[in-house]
Amino acid sequence: MSTEVPPRGRAPVPRRPARLTSQLLAARAAYVLRGNDLGVMTSAAPRLYPHMWSWDAAFVAVGLARLSVPRAITELDTLLGAQWGNGMIPHIVFSPEATGYFPGPERWGCHLGVAGAPPFPATSGICQPPVHAVAAQRIVEAARRQGRTDRHAAGEFLDRAWRPLVAWHRWLAERRDPDGTGRVVLHHGWESGMDNSPRWDGPYSRVVVGPDLPPYRRRDTDAVGDPSVRPSDREYDRYLWLIEEMRRVGYDDAAMHAAMSFAVEDVLVSALLAVSCDVLADLGEERGQPAADVTDLRGWSARFRRGVAESVDPGTGLARDRDVRTGEWLATATVAGFAPLLCGGLGRAEEARLLALFESDAWCGHPGLVAAVPPSTSPAVDGFRAREYWRGPQWPVVAWLFHWSFARRGWAERAAVLREEGLRLVGAGDFAEYYEPFTGEPLGSMQQSWTAAAVLDWLC
Ligand code: SER
Repeated sequence: MSTEVPPRGRAPVPRRPARLTSQLLAARAAYVLRGNDLGVMTSAAPRLYPHMWSWDAAFVAVGLARLSVPRAITELDTLLGAQWGNGMIPHIVFSPEATGYFPGPERWGCHLGVAGAPPFPATSGICQPPVHAVAAQRIVEAARRQGRTDRHAAGEFLDRAWRPLVAWHRWLAERRDPDGTGRVVLHHGWESGMDNSPRWDGPYSRVVVGPDLPPYRRRDTDAVGDPSVRPSDREYDRYLWLIEEMRRVGYDDAAMHAAMSFAVEDVLVSALLAVSCDVLADLGEERGQPAADVTDLRGWSARFRRGVAESVDPGTGLARDRDVRTGEWLATATVAGFAPLLCGGLGRAEEARLLALFESDAWCGHPGLVAAVPPSTSPAVDGFRAREYWRGPQWPVVAWLFHWSFARRGWAERAAVLREEGLRLVGAGDFAEYYEPFTGEPLGSMQQSWTAAAVLDWLC
């Protein structure tokens, strides 16, 4: 296996099957979502992720909205049905029928009396990025294109989802930013959705795994053919140790803030919170929801937009995470550095500079890429690994997120390019979780639900 970055200017080596027609690709995407449908939830992927994941479910709902507005609503209803009493939407909702995933409900222990956690369905005890308001908005937009029945269903859904969604944003804004920095604090790399991104190498290097870590057996490497495309065993030990730390303080927000050995301000989650607060506030205003909630949402949006802008590295122009335990800024060049493009808030010149970097040969414009969408880590940095999960591969869902944001911000041409290039990435119809940027090799799980959902949104 080579993780070498091809020299600039070298032509890509296309090893991929021919691209499917749009019609066939969309049909296959619908087939993937149908195949992963467990009834009232969609598994994130059939073997590797047989349950519902929080941000996956939001993207899945975006795709489902193109097929069936009521089914998309059901997806979010199921997720919100597992919300914790404090407002947290858990990162996994476990399907009682599915097996084969580790760490499962017993390892998390949340359904066994943790305050505020639902006894059923069992859930994990951490969160994931807040993109659910985006899904709600896509459902409303899809319903508008349908008949009166779907419009009515979407309106009723918004009314019942309003309080849970506001509570979720409030929890992030208040419990995960108690110091008011405008950046959301995470206590596990899984909460960022970018588990082993080199963004987190520094903070993880300071997590000391205790001798009393209960034994475990990984299942993820059984589900993919090549374990080197997944996080390492050393990384997994730390992931599992952090769960132990959380369990020992009963998943209590304040105790975790004080005691967890991993505490980082995540700039991408913060940008997504800022934009999601605005999206939700817009929906609430249209629907006549309480003005006090809308005012809170607008306030959080402004605070997190400012927090993201303040994190920008004057040297590189990229936004930076921060290690709360050491106070250091984390400046590795990962896709999260483009967070300000999602939420806005930069001055005109700073934003133009960041867009130019996004399109430069250190990122989407690298001459070796099969498709011009952002790799998870810049091919120009030492820590880049072309096949290793969040250390280099391209993720279609990330391309979708930037496409959606660019369209929202009025950058229609740039959005169209990301759509076209995203479709080039997934055009062979395998719906992989992620792709090797220089060969287009599909990696990780196949039939990944959110990849299919992105394709449906792009094509339908
Ligand atoms: N992404 C993690 C996993 O690989 C969990 O959220 O299992």
